[in-house]
Amino acid sequence: MKQLTIAEGIHMLTMNVEDILFEGIWEIANGVTLNSYIVQGEKTAIIDGVIGWDGVPETLYRNLAEIGVEPKRIDYLVVNHMEPDHSGWISNFRKIKDNFTVICTEKAAKMVASFYGEDKIRIVKEGDTLDLGKGKVLSFHPVPNVHWPDTMYTYEKATKTLFSCDMFGAFGRMGEHCFDDELTPEEIDFFEAEGIRYYSNVMGTFTSSLRKAIEKANALEIKTIAPGHGPVYRKNPQKIIADYSRFSRYAEGAGKNEVTILWGSMYGMTAQAVAHVEGILQREGVKFNKLEMPLESESEMIATVFKSAGIIIAAPTYEYKLFPPVAAALNELGRKKITGKLAFRFGSYGWSGGAERELKEIMERNNMKWDFLESVEFEGAPKKEDLMKVEDGVLALIEKMKEKVVE
Ligand code: FEO
Repeated sequence: MKQLTIAEGIHMLTMNVEDILFEGIWEIANGVTLNSYIVQGEKTAIIDGVIGWDGVPETLYRNLAEIGVEPKRIDYLVVNHMEPDHSGWISNFRKIKDNFTVICTEKAAKMVASFYGEDKIRIVKEGDTLDLGKGKVLSFHPVPNVHWPDTMYTYEKATKTLFSCDMFGAFGRMGEHCFDDELTPEEIDFFEAEGIRYYSNVMGTFTSSLRKAIEKANALEIKTIAPGHGPVYRKNPQKIIADYSRFSRYAEGAGKNEVTILWGSMYGMTAQAVAHVEGILQREGVKFNKLEMPLESESEMIATVFKSAGIIIAAPTYEYKLFPPVAAALNELGRKKITGKLAFRFGSYGWSGGAERELKEIMERNNMKWDFLESVEFEGAPKKEDLMKVEDGVLALIEKMKEKVVE
């Protein structure tokens, strides 16, 4: 756990977590940080506590003591969001101290009670304040469905610091550099990619609510954004607001100037056409990513499709339907409400087709509104004329995706 100072009387404790499935689902190849913040006036509040795993609360207490905050003197636990990565230590903390108050929204209060049995709760609404003394006043601003219904921002007025919880967060472990003005160009790129992974994996389903949260942030005068995961933005908080705004467009069909090939092949017939497509994309100088299903992690698959302006789906028919690992990937993209992507599909079939019919069913069932170019299906191995049709489709995609590019 690392100790940092945001401003006088405002501390940050951050730890890297690795080797977990985030939310029990997401493989996070590059880890994630859990950030906690302490605001000290005459009273002391801790915002976004930490996960309750073995040894973690005790590590938190030790680090609090090292920065001069005696854990037993904490008066308020501000639970911006009840998900246990931010609140899992409450029961452990109750064992060492009995007289503290949980501050949270009404929706969070219900869950704090049901998950941890807490009843010393002060429910806050939009604009409510908590005066900690010595000029430190916190105000509370619900941002429902980011990504849970209970979420809120906490804002410290004197320093204009927004404690934004999951909003404006990113996956990715932090090394020595935890503030935006310290990040190297490589680290900036790293956290942009990990921000996209975080947004698409965890928040993507709730894009309309995230847009409202962006508006709410824009209505506040902000000098620093301190999220629950990832770097703190003190030099240019507007950058992460603009990034999140851009990510919200990726969820609805825009993307970077790159193509993603989402593909799978049973016996290499569809793979022959994929190899041909790679040659075309290289020849045309188009950046592309390849996701072979089911070998790719769900986290990587969603993030990569999410950020791309053009999608190529290469999958054969399997038992009268779409090759199952690719069908499962598309269903997951539908659950994440990744809509409006420009796409082109091709694939092989043996004794009958059927992949195309299931592809349409998946798109309709999930209301995905993807814009498909005419598909190409071929019997068995792709022949020269099939590859020419595939090339026509790829070239049309490259041309049309220019309308979708937002960098
Ligand atoms: Fe960082 Fe929604 O948990």
